[in-house]
Amino acid sequence: MASLNAIAQKLVAPGKGILAADESEPTIAKRFASIGLDSNLELRRDYREMLFRATDAMTNYISGVILTEETLEQSAMDGTPFRTLLAEADVVPGIKVDRGAFPMPGSDGEKITEGLDGLRQRLAHYASLGAGFAKWRGVITINETAPTRNNIRANAHALARYASLCQEAGIVPVVEPEVLADGEPGDHSIQRCQDVTGETLETVFKELRLAGVDLSGMLLKPNMVLAGHRAGDKPSVDEVARKTRETLLQFVPAAVPGIAFLSGGQTDEEATAHLSAMNEIGNMPWHLTFSYGRALQNVALRTWNGKRENFAPAQEAFAHRARMNSLASLGQWRR
Ligand code: 13P
Repeated sequence: MASLNAIAQKLVAPGKGILAADESEPTIAKRFASIGLDSNLELRRDYREMLFRATDAMTNYISGVILTEETLEQSAMDGTPFRTLLAEADVVPGIKVDRGAFPMPGSDGEKITEGLDGLRQRLAHYASLGAGFAKWRGVITINETAPTRNNIRANAHALARYASLCQEAGIVPVVEPEVLADGEPGDHSIQRCQDVTGETLETVFKELRLAGVDLSGMLLKPNMVLAGHRAGDKPSVDEVARKTRETLLQFVPAAVPGIAFLSGGQTDEEATAHLSAMNEIGNMPWHLTFSYGRALQNVALRTWNGKRENFAPAQEAFAHRARMNSLASLGQWRR
């Protein structure tokens, strides 16, 4: 079995990044509704088959794919297991293992992620199916009274418990604390996001250490430091890149092999430009790449539009975004 560090290194290999295709049923239903489609098992299979059979994108730019439980055990229309399709492209299958973020008791708008009960048994099952890595997302809300210290600590603690269980099962934990940019009310400044992201990362690494997590066998999946989506002032690409890099350098230990960002509601091009600008500055101890959901899939989803005859152009759209983000992971993307 490959070591945790070897899997983590492979996921952040130069020019490659992760496709997040782990939308829960409610989330994928929302994405489908945005193009006027009802979600059902067959359509979800078709859509993911379109992505996983995008040979150009998958072999050249994608190192790993985050799947849902449904997809990890699902097969393409001709009966080929999705896991086989990914293996043919030398892509590491990953699995989202959290059960979603739920309202935090006694709090105004904050959420705590559930899914620790029975996780040891589930991880053993996913490992037997070939999952090389996993994802757990903790959500940090910014509003007038949030985040509270209690919420940051609770989410960081859950992330650390998840991460240590993953490593016990031989699975690389992708640790995802997301400070929301597109939450409510979403009018916070980039400075506020930087402060909250710093406090969150500091707390997460404190908990990871307490839980005995091997930092060389994990990946971090953070938000970029951004203003809220309804903020009056929109920071420049340079400011986002500088502040994000600064925050990571201050709070993320060099032992972590890689950082793979979520896109978090940025436009496709913003997510690419920000990543490229950070890598252009360079001088960081970790590989910096993408683990995007929406910013890789938006155009492909609309082009597919629920029809198998649109597979080829949808795959081209996906490959284009994957290629742009591959360039960004090398600091070489230009508008
Ligand atoms: P977005 O890139 O669409 O934010 O999704 C990434 C992800 O995996 C969120 O958990």
